[in-house]
Amino acid sequence: MTDPRLDALRQAAPALRLKTDPADLEHYGRDWTRRWTPAPLAIALPGNVEEVQAVVRWANQQGVAIVPSGGRTGLSGGAVAANGELVLSLERMNQALAFDPVDRTLTVQAGMPLEAVHNGAREHGLQYPVDFAARGSCSIGGNIATNAGGIRVIRYGNTREWIAGLKVVAGTGDVLDLNRGLIKNSSGYDLRQLLIGSEGTLGIVVEATLRLTDPPPPSNVMLLALPSFEVLMQVFAAFRQRLQLEAFEFFTDVALKHVLAHGAQKPFDEIHPFYVVAEFASGDEATEAAAMAAFEHGMEQGWIVDGVISQSGAQAAQLWRLREGITESLARYKPYKNDVSVRISAMPAFLAETQQLLSEAYPHFEVVWFGHIGDGNLHINVLKPDDVADADFIAACEQVTKLLADCLRRHGGSISAEHGIGLVKKPYLGSTRSDAEVALMRGVKHVFDPNGVLNPGKLFDP
Ligand code: FAD
Ligand code: MLT
Ligand code: ZN
Repeated sequence: MTDPRLDALRQAAPALRLKTDPADLEHYGRDWTRRWTPAPLAIALPGNVEEVQAVVRWANQQGVAIVPSGGRTGLSGGAVAANGELVLSLERMNQALAFDPVDRTLTVQAGMPLEAVHNGAREHGLQYPVDFAARGSCSIGGNIATNAGGIRVIRYGNTREWIAGLKVVAGTGDVLDLNRGLIKNSSGYDLRQLLIGSEGTLGIVVEATLRLTDPPPPSNVMLLALPSFEVLMQVFAAFRQRLQLEAFEFFTDVALKHVLAHGAQKPFDEIHPFYVVAEFASGDEATEAAAMAAFEHGMEQGWIVDGVISQSGAQAAQLWRLREGITESLARYKPYKNDVSVRISAMPAFLAETQQLLSEAYPHFEVVWFGHIGDGNLHINVLKPDDVADADFIAACEQVTKLLADCLRRHGGSISAEHGIGLVKKPYLGSTRSDAEVALMRGVKHVFDPNGVLNPGKLFDP
């Protein structure tokens, strides 16, 4: 017997593709967090904007919650459906719609994978510069909903900077055509920016007009070995002063151990406590000399103990693998992920305090540090030992997160730099957003989604 609510949905949108097989419910009901047991009502795979509208109107009539779903590579539980929700997957809406060479914009459907966006931009001799390791499976709609960051923020900024227009189905079922690719638009509130980072709670992104830019300059990749955390920001300052940095990422020996166990190649004979992958624009003698000067200055100061510079594209990719392979190499340990940020200027003091705090708080767990240090964004992953139950592990980590949240508050930071709040960081939203801000967010949610059908319980409780 089918659920009468699904019969009503079939009547409202006869051509809508629906999936209800247990394997599909499981597949589409979870993201990379793997913490919740998937239990959606069904999966809807609309093929056009009208079908998305029909689903949202039906959800309002039937009182069914919708979980908007992209590539489900999210790390904060935003796309989890564990309570009888309808998963609305954008995966069939994955086409490029228009390229405008004068505006230098590419309009795409929200389900397009990030990598396909990159390829689409490249075909027109341009670049869409937001990039990170999940590029092959995450969607542009999910990137917009989380305001994704990644490895090139230091040079190009977050997803937010690259969205010239958004077509959205609000919680009322209305279609909003926001900003329409305009560069200048001072006609009141910028609802497009409100939608970016809203984690599927205000509207379903169905199309996006993306700004493109010049292709990346020729570049080189350097891997640096550092003796301590304390010198990290000094190395960053020295390199940023002398070079146009395209990326500046760090990881520890523990991260390296896991990536090597996952098949990457050992970069140096010796193991060092900290590593930096720095990519910088190069291609002429002046920049190459500047890179050498930065490196030699770091060696003289004792901030750098070893280094290698890529001699080919293949070697550059090999060095990047050491950084980009970390998430996958840790996945089997069900890591408890922290994704925190402070202003770059606050980083040295924050680092010192956090290191002290976590070394005392986690004596029994392996802790892996890595991240986008040039953006003030640290990923601190705590690995679950095989003999500790999931619930006990998470409970232990949550105790420490409370302390970390206090530390972030003191340093003016954020409990989520780029992954979003979702379910994972919901208890801590108030640690780095004021009560007045959260009250306004709730008010905004109510205006966009009066019946609370869009991703309820994510970001904050209804
Ligand atoms: P999903 O996981 O499907 O959804 C994420 C959120 O967006 C959910 O709340 C969902 O409801 C909502 N959503 C999805 N599509 C829509 C839509 N069309 N309209 C409205 N809401 C929608 N993130 C970074 O920021 N930087 C990184 O460097 C980074 N690296 C990663 C590396 C790996 C290996 C992995 C697995 C993840 C990484 N992530 C990173 C996290 C993740 O890839 C990003 O958050 C990404 O933006 C999520 O996209 P998605 O399509 O998978 O979204
Ligand atoms: C990264 O920077 O590698 C990602 O944000 C993924 C992660 O934190 O695991
Ligand atoms: Zn990251």
